[in-house]
Amino acid sequence: MPKRALITGVTGQDGSYLAELLLGEGYEVSGMVRRTSNVNYERVEHIADKIRFVPGDLLDEGSIVAALRDVQPHEVYNLAAQSFVTTSWNQPMFTGEATALGVTRVLEAVRQVDPSIRYYQASSSEMFGKVREVPQDETTPFYPRSPYGVAKVYGHWITINYRESYDLYACSGILFNHESPRRGLEFVTRKVTSSVARIKAGLDRELRLGNLDAKRDWGFAGDYVRAMWLMLQQDVPDDFVVATGETHSVRELCEIAFGRAGLDWTAYVVVDERFLRPAEVDLLVGSPAKAAEKLGWTPTVAFAELVEMMVDADIERLRR
Ligand code: NAP
Ligand code: GDD
Repeated sequence: MPKRALITGVTGQDGSYLAELLLGEGYEVSGMVRRTSNVNYERVEHIADKIRFVPGDLLDEGSIVAALRDVQPHEVYNLAAQSFVTTSWNQPMFTGEATALGVTRVLEAVRQVDPSIRYYQASSSEMFGKVREVPQDETTPFYPRSPYGVAKVYGHWITINYRESYDLYACSGILFNHESPRRGLEFVTRKVTSSVARIKAGLDRELRLGNLDAKRDWGFAGDYVRAMWLMLQQDVPDDFVVATGETHSVRELCEIAFGRAGLDWTAYVVVDERFLRPAEVDLLVGSPAKAAEKLGWTPTVAFAELVEMMVDADIERLRR
């Protein structure tokens, strides 16, 4: 009998890669989708006939319970969230409802419907915020710097609490930034690579960015969803940092992205205060040592390769 998995956030970047991976592993894949005024299944269009879509919203406990009763999954991957850090300052309440309390709603539904379901929580390196040590690993204390980061800290600890209180197989993956050609246009990597394509095509003349000095540990989303799956295949549930171990600045990102299109980034990038954040996370770099040792996980795509893959995909998308 094939294993059944339910993914919340299946229409997002990670949801689409995870659905592909699980289908490849022989799973029956269901995706929880919320009602929107426009159908936005673009990222899973190519596999839509293989996924069962079930209605549900992180803000509505009853809908999550109904989705679990309907699908009867062996594994739940809770990827849904208000995931854009900037928006979390504009909509702190909504971010708390979805990204923090939403986790409890899913865990509570698991506990009530079938406590043998294995649960994955999409935690984040944003929890490290103003970092207490370099590199960050599973034991590094948290110091979140945004309502999003604070909400993720809640989601992380409630996952551990449900594991310890109810003996659930619940894991928290502390994932550092991961990108792909399917990344949302508002995140800095995709903002840069889509802009490079537009400038190259003569459609734009400049790119306005915020803090060019911010440093991130950027990996490829396709690699990171494999770590999520591996976490749920172990004998005992545990929490893992997933990262490349390398850090790069937004400035370096620009240099590689514009360079790929034969352009000099300094001629196009303009610093615009509107994109600065009320509180910044200056530096993230993770240690993937535990994931390597216990899950046998290592990243396969290096930073420059990732940026070039995204630029090429955006140029090709515009050409089409
Ligand atoms: P994403 O592309 O923004 O996707 C978010 C998903 O959540 C979308 O499918 C969205 O649905 C869904 N969603 C939002 N609010 C919802 C609600 N109230 N009810 C049900 N679904 C809702 O995010 P991602 O990059 O794939 O990230 C996946 C998860 O990993 C998120 O929890 C994120 O915070 C976390 N994370 C991401 C990274 C990263 O670098 N990508 C790193 C660490 C952690 P719609 O399509 O309807 O909007
Ligand atoms: N988005 C954006 N837009 N970021 C900019 C810009 C800009 O114009 N200019 C500079 N940056 C800087 C931000 O200030 C930040 O330091 C860095 O680029 C990365 O920003 P994002 O790509 O928006 O990602 P993030 O690091 O804030 O959050 C992402 O990664 C987290 C994991 O650490 C999101 O995917 C989160 O959901 C995820 O948890």
